[in-house]
Amino acid sequence: MIVGTPRATSKRFADPADFTPFFERRAGELHCERVPLERIAARLGTPAYVYSRAAITATYRRLDRAFAGPGGVPHTICYSVKANSNLSILRLLARLGSGFDIVSGGELHRLRRAGVSPKTIVFSGVGKTREEICDALRAGILLFNVESAAELEILAAEAARLRRPAAAGIRVNPDVEAGGHPHISTGHHRHKFGMDWDDARRLYLAHKDSRWIRWQGISAHIGSQILSAAPFRSAIARLAAYVRELRRAGVALKYLDFGGGIGVRYAAEDPLEVRNYAAIVTRALRPLGCHLLLEPGRVIVGQAGVLLMRVLYTKTNHGKTFVVVDAAMNDMIRPALYGAVHPITVAGALRPRTVASRGPSSSRADIVGPVCETGDCFLQDWPLGEVNSGDLLVLWGAGAYGFVAASNYNSRPRPPEVLVEGSRFRLIRRRESFQDLCRGEL
Ligand code: LLP
Repeated sequence: MIVGTPRATSKRFADPADFTPFFERRAGELHCERVPLERIAARLGTPAYVYSRAAITATYRRLDRAFAGPGGVPHTICYSVKANSNLSILRLLARLGSGFDIVSGGELHRLRRAGVSPKTIVFSGVGKTREEICDALRAGILLFNVESAAELEILAAEAARLRRPAAAGIRVNPDVEAGGHPHISTGHHRHKFGMDWDDARRLYLAHKDSRWIRWQGISAHIGSQILSAAPFRSAIARLAAYVRELRRAGVALKYLDFGGGIGVRYAAEDPLEVRNYAAIVTRALRPLGCHLLLEPGRVIVGQAGVLLMRVLYTKTNHGKTFVVVDAAMNDMIRPALYGAVHPITVAGALRPRTVASRGPSSSRADIVGPVCETGDCFLQDWPLGEVNSGDLLVLWGAGAYGFVAASNYNSRPRPPEVLVEGSRFRLIRRRESFQDLCRGEL
């Protein structure tokens, strides 16, 4: 199901520069930390993803601190690699002390390339292959979050074959409704994720004294972009009850993995404060004495990134204004896929006009990319203001589920990724070339 392109409401959107940490306007010109975005665009071209190291660091630390201290619980943040898996971002988070949550052999490979210790890795996902399971067993990861009886069979068989006991937990489906959009809600009983409690309990008990399966944890991830406390509160209460029930039955678990899901502000959302989220989780967890694992993705990197693009052309069809930009749905799929609203604003500094323009656009416009799909529209009827060909635009909130979901559709090379560090910036992924596009083809 494709949800329609986001449409601006009559409500005025706040300028994300006013609420996005480490991005600000100075003398009208948008900066990431101390670097003008125009400087990056001039050097590396557009489209381009730009991330702030300070923003990622600050959010990671804020989350970590919220669970530390006297009121806290022993915990490990296992950053969800799928949100942004660039090697430099993974290294940065590893240096900050983060663990990692993976869902594929490819993500495990990235972490090893980044030099991360496998002892901090949890492996979730409904469809782990035998090969992926073996690789992770050999690597000696912290925890397998098992999602079916069939998967557990394979895990036990491979653990026995390799003579390496598997540290495992079951991902349960706590049956709560959560998540900003049907595609990213995962914790309800009709979803494919996790297992019903009755089945999970049966497996825990059946393999209680297994030589090759060592029950160490229980996990749940109820959805993504969750903005309210209620779903987290119900889910953690259920998990705590499961841990107690298992303990009474003689299965003592060390880890409770509460997944990710904390929402962020893209436009007008009012997300949960990290410390309120932490209070809900720690209150339920402290009496249990478990070690808490968290798998946040979006909250750590989401607001730390933007996608730079330039205006190619403006045009008017039947009185409607279109701003055609050089980024497209292949670079950033969230608006087309989820109807996600990522505000777009002008970066400030105007470039000399290099592309023929049909004059300034009117103040409201559809912002569209070059891909041959009507759905290739970032925003409809958006109050962008007057722009001209060559102007630099910024799509906000692009740090999570941005580049990682980019494709080569329409044979468009994927954009570069750039990390800003104070007054410097560096390329952390090159723009793809036409040669890259055909690599592996015969
Ligand atoms: N743990 C598990 C098992 C997950 O499936 C996910 C996300 C996370 C952790 C991280 O969730 P977060 O903290 O980022 O909400 N592409 C979608 C989001 C898909 C999320 C999938 N699972 C989007 O662009 O909104």
